[in-house]
Amino acid sequence: MKKIKDRAETALANAENFEELEKIRIEYLGKKGKLTQVLRGMGKLPPEERPLIGQLANQIREELENQIEDVKKEIKEKEKHAKLKQEVIDITIPGRKYNIGKKHPLTLILEDIKGFFIGMGYEVVEGPEIELDYYNFEALNIPENHPARDMQDTFYINDKILLRTQTSPVQVRVMEKTSPPLRIIAPGRVYRSDEVDATHSPMFHQVEVLAVDENLSLGDLKGTLIAFARHLFGEDRGVRFRPSYFPFTEPSAELDISCIACNGAGCRLCKYSGWLEILGCGMVNPKVLEIVGYDPEKVSGFAAGMGVERIALLKYGIDDMRLFFENDLRFLYQF
Ligand code: PHE
Repeated sequence: MKKIKDRAETALANAENFEELEKIRIEYLGKKGKLTQVLRGMGKLPPEERPLIGQLANQIREELENQIEDVKKEIKEKEKHAKLKQEVIDITIPGRKYNIGKKHPLTLILEDIKGFFIGMGYEVVEGPEIELDYYNFEALNIPENHPARDMQDTFYINDKILLRTQTSPVQVRVMEKTSPPLRIIAPGRVYRSDEVDATHSPMFHQVEVLAVDENLSLGDLKGTLIAFARHLFGEDRGVRFRPSYFPFTEPSAELDISCIACNGAGCRLCKYSGWLEILGCGMVNPKVLEIVGYDPEKVSGFAAGMGVERIALLKYGIDDMRLFFENDLRFLYQF
C-alpha cells in the first residue's frame, strides 16, 4: 500500500493537465483502481489484520484525494496564467492609422444652406433630374422658341424629356401638389451642356427657394435673402439687389454681395465692380401661379435659385470649380 501511495504521488507530481489527473485518479482510486483492489482483497486477510489495513487504506485514499484536489487547483492556476500570457497586449506597438473621412466642401455648403432655411421653417424637397420639358420650361413661362431657352444650353433626351437645367421645375411640382401657404427649398443636381472650365461644369448643384402665402411681398423676399447672404458671408457683408430678368419671376433681381476679396474696392475676382453675384430671385410670376391653379389675386410668392458650387468657390476662396469633381484627397482633406 505504501508503494501504491508512493507511485500515485509521483504520478500526481508529474500531472500536467486535467486529463492526466483524471487518469491517475481512475488508476488508483477508481472502481478497479489499485487501492480499491487492496480494499476488496481484504476478505482474504486474517480478521485481526483487517481493521488495521482498512484504516490505512482509507487514510491513504483520503490523502490521495486531497492531493488530487490540490493538483487540480494548481493546474487551474497554471492554465489561467497561460491564457493571460497568450492574451497579453504589447501596448508599446504603434497603433493602426485610420483614415478619417471628411465631408465634401459642397456637402458642407449645402448643409449650411439647408440649416439656415430649415431654421426659418422651410421644408426640404427634391425633384427628378430627368425632367419633362413642361416643368423645366413650359410651366415656368418659357415657351418654345422663347429666347430665354438659349440662356441655358439643354441636354435633351427627346422632344419632351431633358436633363433639368435648373431646380425651378421643383417649384411647379410642389405647387401642383400643395395648396398655399408653403415654404420649401429644393437642392439637387442640374445639367447644362457647357464646356468644362474654371467656372463651368456640365453638372452642378442648385438650391431653389420658394415661399407662397397671402400678402408675401418683395419686402419678405429681401428680408429673407439678406439674412441668408449675411448668414453665409458674415453679418456686415454688403448686399444689393440688382434688377434682372427671369421669365418665371416678376419683378426679378440678382443678389450681389460686396466682394469678399477686396471688400468692394475692385479687384480681379469681382471684375473691378466691387460686387459678386450669388443668386437669382424674384416674385413668382402670376402666370406661373395660374398654371399651377393658384389664384394670383389671393396669394403671392417669392423664389430664388443659387448655384452651390459658386457659393462654395466664393466662401472658400477657391478659383477652380473642377477641384470639386476631381476627388483629389489633397484638396478634399483641407475642409
Ligand atoms: N432658375 C434660375 C437659374 O437657374 C434661378 C432663379 C430661381 C431665378 C428662382 C429666380 C427665381 O438661373
